[in-house]
Amino acid sequence: MPLSDTPSMWNPFANMAVAPGNAITIVGGRGSTIFDASGRQYLDAIASLWYCNVGHGRAELAEAAARQMREIAAYQAYEVFSSEPAEALARRVAELAPIRDAKVFFTPGGGSDAVDTAAKLARAYWRAVGQPDKQVVIGRSYAYHGVNAFGTSLGGIPAFSEPFGPLVSSVEHVPWDDTGALAKLIEQVGADRVAAFFCEPVVGAGGVYFPPDGYLAEVQQICRDQDVLFVADEVITGFGRTGEWFGSSRFGLEPDIMTVAKGLTSGYLPLGAVLAGPKVAEPFWRPGTAEIFRQGYTLHRSPNRVRRGLGQLGHHRARTAVA
Ligand SMILES: Cc1ncc(COP(=O)(O)O)c(C=O)c1O
Repeated sequence: MPLSDTPSMWNPFANMAVAPGNAITIVGGRGSTIFDASGRQYLDAIASLWYCNVGHGRAELAEAAARQMREIAAYQAYEVFSSEPAEALARRVAELAPIRDAKVFFTPGGGSDAVDTAAKLARAYWRAVGQPDKQVVIGRSYAYHGVNAFGTSLGGIPAFSEPFGPLVSSVEHVPWDDTGALAKLIEQVGADRVAAFFCEPVVGAGGVYFPPDGYLAEVQQICRDQDVLFVADEVITGFGRTGEWFGSSRFGLEPDIMTVAKGLTSGYLPLGAVLAGPKVAEPFWRPGTAEIFRQGYTLHRSPNRVRRGLGQLGHHRARTAVA
């Protein structure tokens, strides 16, 4: 078929010789059921792409978003600008997170933006505390950390990174289940050059691998002992996916940095976030500091009332968020 006769839409991660002729066109959803254009029903066992934690078709979320958009759809949050719903959402996520006094940095695109922001934050942190040589970030085999440059480089699925050539330098990998390999790599590279270790509490896109017993506690301890930031990528495991609010809660971890997205809004609007613990936040927040985390996105704001997707947990009295 000539290219001019094929549809315009180019699907992500798809073989476009095959996808258009086999399209499953989803037109609706209620709870855990979705419907295609021919009226066929499916049990959405994967919650779309592991994100629709509160279920499809929640009219109150659509209405909340519409109400907010009528007032103001978005406004930047650079420098001194803020919004009450965004602050309330940050407060609520910080309360739920297994990180004491977490600071919440929103990333409007979702998990890929959160991962790249977390990696930049890790490097910026070490520079801010006078150790600029700590630049190396470590990922694992089978890992998936999204599609931006840091995330692609940190990932451990060769087919997802090889086509793009070298992206971010000073990125290393270890086997996903081997604590000794992590300790050895840090020793080889030199702890004074390693910024952070990234891991998904449960490997998701790489094959759904549950961590070996004790693995996560041990890698967290290695990171603490070697003064390497421990980053939990909770884009999938956040917001109830493993039976606790976060995978880190389930496995008794307190990461230095966490990345979240997906269930944060259940996909009603795109949003991710980076949570930074006090050690990482301190140089950027302490009174009199000149350190600025020079990172941000134009649409750096919360999806307003959609925060109620967190199981109706909102309790603030923001004028724009109260029905
Ligand atoms: C662990 C993990 N990190 C990051 C991402 C990227 O998130 P997004 O697709 O929202 O950019 C994903 C997506 O599946 C993921 O599973």
